[in-house]
Amino acid sequence: MAQEQTGRILIVESDRALQSKLEAQLSAIGHIVETAPDSAAALEHLEGSMPDVVLLALDPERMGGFDFLREARALLPAASFIAMAETGSTDTAVKALACGADRLLTRPVRPDALALIVERSLDKPLHARDAMEARAGAAATLPTIALMDRVVGVHPSMQRLFNRLLQAAKSRSTVLIQGETGTGKELIAKAIHEHSLRSEGPLVRLNCAALAESVLESELFGHEKGAFTGAVTRRKGRFEQADGGTLFLDELSEMPLSVQIKLLRFLQERELERVGGNETVSVNVRVVAATNRDLKSLVEDGKFREDLYFRLKVVVLEVPPLRARPSDIPLLADHFLRLYADENDKQVQGFTHDAKEALVAYPWPGNVRELQHAIEQAVVLCEKELIDTEDLPIEPPDREAEPLSLLVPGVTLAEVERYTIMKTLEAVGGSPTKAAAILGISKRTIHYRLEEWGLAKTKPEDTC
Ligand SMILES: Nc1ncnc2c1ncn2[C@@H]1O[C@H](COP(=O)(O)OP(=O)(O)OP(=O)(O)O)[C@@H](O)[C@H]1O
Ligand SMILES: [Mg+2]
Repeated sequence: MAQEQTGRILIVESDRALQSKLEAQLSAIGHIVETAPDSAAALEHLEGSMPDVVLLALDPERMGGFDFLREARALLPAASFIAMAETGSTDTAVKALACGADRLLTRPVRPDALALIVERSLDKPLHARDAMEARAGAAATLPTIALMDRVVGVHPSMQRLFNRLLQAAKSRSTVLIQGETGTGKELIAKAIHEHSLRSEGPLVRLNCAALAESVLESELFGHEKGAFTGAVTRRKGRFEQADGGTLFLDELSEMPLSVQIKLLRFLQERELERVGGNETVSVNVRVVAATNRDLKSLVEDGKFREDLYFRLKVVVLEVPPLRARPSDIPLLADHFLRLYADENDKQVQGFTHDAKEALVAYPWPGNVRELQHAIEQAVVLCEKELIDTEDLPIEPPDREAEPLSLLVPGVTLAEVERYTIMKTLEAVGGSPTKAAAILGISKRTIHYRLEEWGLAKTKPEDTC
């Protein structure tokens, strides 16, 4: 059967073998699957991972499943609930429907029936999710979400990210932060910790690329006295150090496969064993991981465990590259200007219009970090009140090469829109009225876009 839609599915099943079978069947057709052995564990998952479909094995011997259905239904009104019951257990089936199940599956579950029923159950939640995201997009023009005062971001893509971050922060779900180098992944990880209920606890960071395989394992999980030459005392690992708080695993893609399996085990069981020890240690840690590499292709190359990838994929925060959020560039530039002007006791007040235009036009391959360094350098060297284009350590855009950046496929519609508006404005001497007439759009749209890109010279005089 062709897989039409991808959804987040939570399987609640105490029988390990059945659980793995269902998980494998649903993952194989592209769904993101999480599992929980019982209702209590499932409730913990719900808020953070917000599944679209919950597949619940009902055990008439243990009535917890029905209470769970009622509670979960109230928590996630848009999700679909599929109850699985033994063939012939009519009472269980009727009660499940009364408690809020949307559909019933009788056991044994055939893989094609499972795929079909999950597919059909996705319509309602995916529709609700789209509507919610559309509302979040529309709300972006309303007062912006502020995330600590250090994280700048007003572009709708960042506002959506902040929104998701605040939701995820309240749960214990593992969060994966993905984004190009310098986009702010570490800052986002700190924000998750600071906005979580465990903000009073420790935030412990470990860069997985910085340590050799053998050292990394004992650094993470700790070791017992005598576990290896040099282990003269028992030592707590980063997991134990982060107890009650957050463990930030940076550059996760560099974690060796042998350590990945131990991490997976911890994420499943919330328990660990120190290197060289048999004692099982339970710790209460939320794991936040970051990577600037595409984990999916690493999975395909056999360098990253697929099961770990699926587990991490449940709550992903994708930090967009700076070039995809041009309205943030002038704000970040002002933010760093104030920071470095204060730090260096300089009287620099701001940027000339041309300098701002150059900053917005530059593609920033090193993202926010590159912008930060550029502004630091400009502030330190500037002797005037305003930073001008020549004070900026960036290459002006190569006008001859511009059409190349519009090779299709390869550009986003937003880039095409921007290129077309700027070129038309240039051709008509900068008149928004004439450009709007040629482009068949309103003058207001042009003003709005110019503002979004930080290029508006004055406030639009008419915004009808
Ligand atoms: N939205 C933002 N607002 C303010 N400062 C930011 C923002 N994003 C990033 N920065 C700053 O840019 C610099 C780089 O950010 P960070 O170290 O978090 O990036 P990263 O994605 O972890 O990079 P890498 O992949 O290279 O590790 C930091 O100094 C950070 O404070
Ligand atoms: Mg980083």
